[in-house]
Amino acid sequence: MSIDPKPNRQPEIGAFFQRDRSWHPPAYTPGYKTSVLRSPQKALLSLDTTISEITGPVFGHGMLGELDNDLIHNFAQPGESAIGERIIVYGRVLDERGKGVPGALLEFWQANAGGRYRHKKEGYIAALDPNFGGCGRTITGEDGSYAFRTIKPGPYPWPNGVNDWRPAHIHFSVFGHGFAQRLITQMYFEGDPLIWLCPIVRTIPDRAAVETLIAALDMQSTIPMDARAYKFDIVLRGRRSSVFENRLEGN
Ligand SMILES: [Fe+2]
Repeated sequence: MSIDPKPNRQPEIGAFFQRDRSWHPPAYTPGYKTSVLRSPQKALLSLDTTISEITGPVFGHGMLGELDNDLIHNFAQPGESAIGERIIVYGRVLDERGKGVPGALLEFWQANAGGRYRHKKEGYIAALDPNFGGCGRTITGEDGSYAFRTIKPGPYPWPNGVNDWRPAHIHFSVFGHGFAQRLITQMYFEGDPLIWLCPIVRTIPDRAAVETLIAALDMQSTIPMDARAYKFDIVLRGRRSSVFENRLEGN
């Protein structure tokens, strides 16, 4: 499949259009085994949002460390760097009309180049990289733009079916102006055949919805002899909304 390098991202003009709710995976999708136990068995209850959820937190650029958006170096010994394909991930956080959203805290976490997480419950046999931690953060600029440097994560197997593999991916969290506005999604890499085999990806009913989660290779933004670039825009709402895994009911 070839992917339009600017998929689904033209500014909206005219009336506001709701996103297509059929894009979201149903809560109960037996092909993704843990959804069988995680999906609700009873009718949902609606709880009011608390003041602290609505009003906090407030993020400032001053909270960021110098290497927070550099996963190649933020866990590495001085003078060393993480092993793997060096990449830049960049893009914009956009509203439904394609306008940039400034001041949004983005957090990202990922496996290392061999597909292993630095996590005590991680069980995959691939080696840990002593110079790679696997998480970072940044805050969007005035135009909603962000960028960070990392290594391309490896795919990894997971206990679902007998031979299921996650495609290479980076997890993203986007904070708005309150804790209750946190959105979570995953970014995949253009051209990866594992995307279309993944039972988690396959819970998303519409191919166009999956494509909102695939970053395009952007050779124009590479740094020659250093790193390739992948462009990943995140659309917070409207009919071009990215798919967020924690907001099945709407965002
Ligand atoms: Fe993951």
